[in-house]
Amino acid sequence: MSFLEEIQRRRTFGIISHPDAGKTTLTEKLLLFGGAIQEAGAVKNNKIKKGATSDFMEIERQRGISVATSVLAFIYKDKKINILDTPGHKDFAEDTFRTLTAVDSVIVVIDVAKGVEEQTEKLVEVCRMRKIPMIVFINKMDREGKDAFDLLDEVEQKLGLRVTPLSFPIGMGYDFKGIYNIFGKKLNVFSGDNKQTISEGVEFNDISVPELDEIIGNKAAETLREELELVEEVYPPFDNNEYLKGDLQPVFFGSALNNFGVKELLDCFIEIAPTPQPKKSEERLVDSKEEKLTGFVFKIHANMDPNHRNRLAFIKIVSGTFKRNSPYLHVRLNKKMKFSSPNAFFAEKKEIVDESFPGDIVGIQDTGNFKIGDTLTEGENLNFKGIPSFSPEHFRYVNNADPLKSKQLFKGLDQLMDEGVAQLFTLDLNGRKIVGTVGALQYEVIQYRLEHEYGAKCSYENLPVHKACWVQPEDPKNEEFKEFKRVKQRFLAKDKQGQLVFLADSAFTIQMTQSKYPSVKLHFTSEFS
Ligand code: G4P
Repeated sequence: MSFLEEIQRRRTFGIISHPDAGKTTLTEKLLLFGGAIQEAGAVKNNKIKKGATSDFMEIERQRGISVATSVLAFIYKDKKINILDTPGHKDFAEDTFRTLTAVDSVIVVIDVAKGVEEQTEKLVEVCRMRKIPMIVFINKMDREGKDAFDLLDEVEQKLGLRVTPLSFPIGMGYDFKGIYNIFGKKLNVFSGDNKQTISEGVEFNDISVPELDEIIGNKAAETLREELELVEEVYPPFDNNEYLKGDLQPVFFGSALNNFGVKELLDCFIEIAPTPQPKKSEERLVDSKEEKLTGFVFKIHANMDPNHRNRLAFIKIVSGTFKRNSPYLHVRLNKKMKFSSPNAFFAEKKEIVDESFPGDIVGIQDTGNFKIGDTLTEGENLNFKGIPSFSPEHFRYVNNADPLKSKQLFKGLDQLMDEGVAQLFTLDLNGRKIVGTVGALQYEVIQYRLEHEYGAKCSYENLPVHKACWVQPEDPKNEEFKEFKRVKQRFLAKDKQGQLVFLADSAFTIQMTQSKYPSVKLHFTSEFS
């Protein structure tokens, strides 16, 4: 197969949802279609169960599973599909944001009864800002839930999307009779045992024919006709380009648990979803069809075995062919490196590969050379953009609890931050270290891992910070900025990249500061240029 054909057949995407909407179940059904797994239940649920915050075994178990499910690849109808796992737990939202920099499109799963939930809102907002093409899958149609039109309204309003249904449900819950596949013009009848058999559906180019009544009954047929008419009147027609530009989001209905409506979703997905997309670097736009290799690290996973501190760096190939044992430039370190055993991912296995193509993810054993965001090239000085840090939600001073182990503590902290577990800030005034996290769970993870992997002990001290704001002065030499730095001295810190950060104690402080020093811009993410 030629290089261009390899690119054309790849689809790399992520599934996002609020926990429990059915992401794991849907992933598993997709893998079943690809023949990548043989039975349901093979993909382990990687969510942290409620109340497990102090159960370290659970955290370790989770880390193990999340390596296995970080990338799930399979072949379906000759397309190579790469699913990148996104943790649903809100304490790991930052991980999910970073993974979204490596996907070319996204499927959003929504529970028909619960509708749009908090975590979905946050994640979709990031996708919307980045114009990532999205398909919405409304799940659990076998249960009683919200009316389809109300739900579509909710999706439009709460998620700010412009939707168009490509399938439509016939009843729901107890009365769920099936779906009409608008995209494929087929009727698919729900029998309740679709877990075993997947019906291909009956073709219905014209739904006014009486056969429809015979199959689903007069009443349901009439309702379906009326509803489809309404769909046509209210929603814009599907347009592949608008979807690819992130301006239109097709919606599918189904039940992942019953494997119903999933095939329709997948068949449409491989047809409309984007092939590996160009990616912006600080220097230029890199096209996937370029022959020279480029790629970037979007995730780092620590080894579970404390005796071997090597880690797995996940690299998304942007352009060119990644070849085993070829020398590549690690741009940040300006160092040539060769990789003798790069891993590719297939279903829930990883294996050594000789070649990988744009859209693929390669896992590289790393002994501490890589950081999230690092770029690999064949020699070009290129830095991929777009792995920003967001302001953490929690802030604590970190104290060394074992004075003999301060070296280990700093090394451990440094490496954990490179993995993206949390963010480290250093106060300008006295050099004290502050750890900022998205969720409280990370503090326990850090403490546990410092002790078990680095032999260091730490304690925490709360810090009443509301948000970390990245500071961007209009002119670093002007008087206003000098005054800002003098007055706010106690609240200024540097992030790990050395960027100036203002640790504000309340939303009010941010507002006041912004109006008092209008030429000093405050940002909630580290990426603002
Ligand atoms: P998540 O990864 O998004 O967190 O969700 P997951 O797939 O684990 O699904 C959450 C729960 O919802 C699971 O039940 C799962 O069986 C159920 N579920 C998923 N899809 C459907 C569907 O189409 N219909 C119905 N009725 N249920 C669905 P659980 O009891 O929490 O877990 P389990 O014991 O079944 O694993």
